[in-house]
Amino acid sequence: MSNTSEELVQLTINGNEITAPSSLSVIQALWHAGYPRVKSVGCLEGVCGSCRVLVRREDDADVSMELGCQTLVENGMQVIFLVFPTPTHHTYQLDEIKNSWDVQAQFHRIFPEAQDCRHCGGCVKTCPKGIDVEHGVRLANKGRFKEAGDLFIECIMCNLCMTACPELISPNHVGLFSRRVTAYFHIRPSNLINRLEALRTDQLQIIK
Ligand code: SF4
Ligand code: SF4
Ligand code: FES
Repeated sequence: MSNTSEELVQLTINGNEITAPSSLSVIQALWHAGYPRVKSVGCLEGVCGSCRVLVRREDDADVSMELGCQTLVENGMQVIFLVFPTPTHHTYQLDEIKNSWDVQAQFHRIFPEAQDCRHCGGCVKTCPKGIDVEHGVRLANKGRFKEAGDLFIECIMCNLCMTACPELISPNHVGLFSRRVTAYFHIRPSNLINRLEALRTDQLQIIK
């Protein structure tokens, strides 16, 4: 329930003029104004990446990409919900990669356009999670998949970086590939291996 003494702001969302308390997010403001939007709404917690919006603020020529569930409404704001882009065309099977020596060659086969990165920074600017996406692509191009994967750890797969890329690179999928190959070829922690081996050879008693 909103507080009636709260400041009200006026903004447009998808061309509709809306008045809403300033404590509401863009999605809450839509609901408050009687628009039962269900498309592009998921977790409402900033983790599913569904609610991507283009935002222009009053007296600001710049447009930013944000998450509708995480962006509070402001006076004079213009908001447009973005349609979900075409999914990435990259397909691969990790078990088709022979071993870790083969990973970089397979990466360039699967993501040939990644080497065309023109370092425009569009993906960085667009990322609502503040990830240095461009650097992640650079690391993967150099075969530094562990570092690239770590960089994308907070990625919510909203696809905004993919939408922004003039070279049709899918940086988020480059990040996902990096995380997958790192996990797939990673040697498990030695203490866990030792413990499982001790269990397997009956050196460790389990009390039932
Ligand atoms: S890296 Fe791309 S897909 Fe991931 S959160 Fe940032 S913009 Fe969204
Ligand atoms: S938007 Fe595309 S071309 Fe530009 S820096 Fe990011 S990955 Fe490279
Ligand atoms: S609804 Fe999931 S990130 Fe906004």
